[in-house]
Amino acid sequence: MDAQLLRHTFAVVERRAEHAVTFFYSHLFWNNPGMRALFPEDMAPQRDRIFAALTHVVTHLDEPGLADYLGALGRDHRKFLATPALYSAVGASLLAAFAHAAGAAWTVAAEKAWTEAYGLVADLMKAGAEASVAEGQPAWWDADVVRHERFGEDLALLTLRPRQPYPYLAGQYVSVSSLHVPRVWRTYSLANAPRPDGTLDLHVSRVLGGLMSPTLTERLRVGETLRLSTPGGALTARTPPGKPRTYIAAGTGWAPVRALLEEAAADEPALEGRLFVVARAKEYLYGKADAERFRELIPGLHVTYITAAPLRPRDQATERLVQALRASVNWPAHDVYLAGPPGFLTEVAEELEDLGTDPCRVFHDTLPAVGRFTTRPSTRAEWLIEPPQLHWHNPEARAPRER
Ligand SMILES: Cc1cc2nc3c(=O)[nH]c(=O)nc-3n(C[C@H](O)[C@H](O)[C@H](O)COP(=O)(O)OP(=O)(O)OC[C@H]3O[C@@H](n4cnc5c(N)ncnc54)[C@H](O)[C@@H]3O)c2cc1C
Ligand code: HEM
Repeated sequence: MDAQLLRHTFAVVERRAEHAVTFFYSHLFWNNPGMRALFPEDMAPQRDRIFAALTHVVTHLDEPGLADYLGALGRDHRKFLATPALYSAVGASLLAAFAHAAGAAWTVAAEKAWTEAYGLVADLMKAGAEASVAEGQPAWWDADVVRHERFGEDLALLTLRPRQPYPYLAGQYVSVSSLHVPRVWRTYSLANAPRPDGTLDLHVSRVLGGLMSPTLTERLRVGETLRLSTPGGALTARTPPGKPRTYIAAGTGWAPVRALLEEAAADEPALEGRLFVVARAKEYLYGKADAERFRELIPGLHVTYITAAPLRPRDQATERLVQALRASVNWPAHDVYLAGPPGFLTEVAEELEDLGTDPCRVFHDTLPAVGRFTTRPSTRAEWLIEPPQLHWHNPEARAPRER
């Protein structure tokens, strides 16, 4: 593949990505009307993901991990009912959108390079899907809801029982779909290490105005069925025995950290480590009882709870965490497991690097880029039809002091 030419055209298209995404889906659904029914009704939150995936591809062309990434993506695309014929349809629309957005940069050579590149990407994805069929994996796992508990207004703790064996590792996440919001899939961390009875827990925090989290917290009932995709994620245990480690969990970031601690309590109860549990306010510290149990099971675990002071904005919890991290010692020796909202992850990972941790030993999930190209309306007509929301639009999402 001519990597330089691919990057050059992509840089031009990326500048007009909002147009390209709109063109792509219009072209795809106009030429293949049946495909619209495979996508969620409201595509606004995620419609740029295919571009995010392509960004990943063109920026990782030389890396050996690319084939694995695309294989896993193809495996995962079985849940969207993607077939080889549909890959051709997507390819035709993607190239049409690129030609439209690239203008003069869409030369004969560029078209040839992109046709080859898309062919390779699609082949690797289809190979991943074929391998998963050969291994006897289902396209998704049906799982019955056996417990649904609310913790305050904003949080639900779910226990699910998959109907077929569902293999996963402590710390991984799963993509979930509910018939209440058909074809919408969102990612949630598995909150326990694998259990003999096969049940698994999820902790869901309600995002006001969201599609999935209000469904899972408010509408879902015991006895209903959810769909689960293949588990994924990079937050699995990988510290050699005897090496100290630090766990940092904010909000529902407690879910994967809880799973890792459950595994560690069984496999290595003599470990030396520290645990920071962060919540926006005291009443959101829903993991405290569990964390206390881990303190007893792992005597070498030093536990600290951090929240914002009453009536202070939630950012204060992060500031307090940073102070506590600075007061802790011996960072270069520690492996760090980090989970929480995206902004929190970035800020804390930077701080940890300043404190001397090895960036390769700070483990957290890499977050899919969402909303990068779709936050701004792309044309004047879109501005008029759907004016952009001001970022303080939802007063309930803000802490009392900020109102
Ligand atoms: C690796 C990974 C693990 C995750 N684990 C968990 C978990 O264990 N528990 C959990 O509750 N969530 C978890 N999430 C977040 C979850 O996947 C959804 O993004 C979240 O539930 C919102 O989905 P939604 O459909 O309700 O909102 P959407 O319909 O996707 O979004 C609606 C609007 O809200 C905005 N928005 C989305 N998320 C947030 C947010 N967190 N805060 C403020 N605004 C937001 C969007 O930009 C959009 O404008 C995880 C995400 C990732 C990537
Ligand atoms: C090389 C081709 C493709 C690439 C790179 C690609 C990439 C992606 C990525 C990265 C996502 C987000 C995944 C997630 O959030 O879990 C996605 C979502 C999706 N893809 Fe693909 N995809 C390709 C082909 C296809 C095909 C052929 C179909 C046909 C059915 C398809 C259907 C979907 C659907 C339905 C979604 C969900 C969209 C949403 O939630 O709004 N994709 N794709």
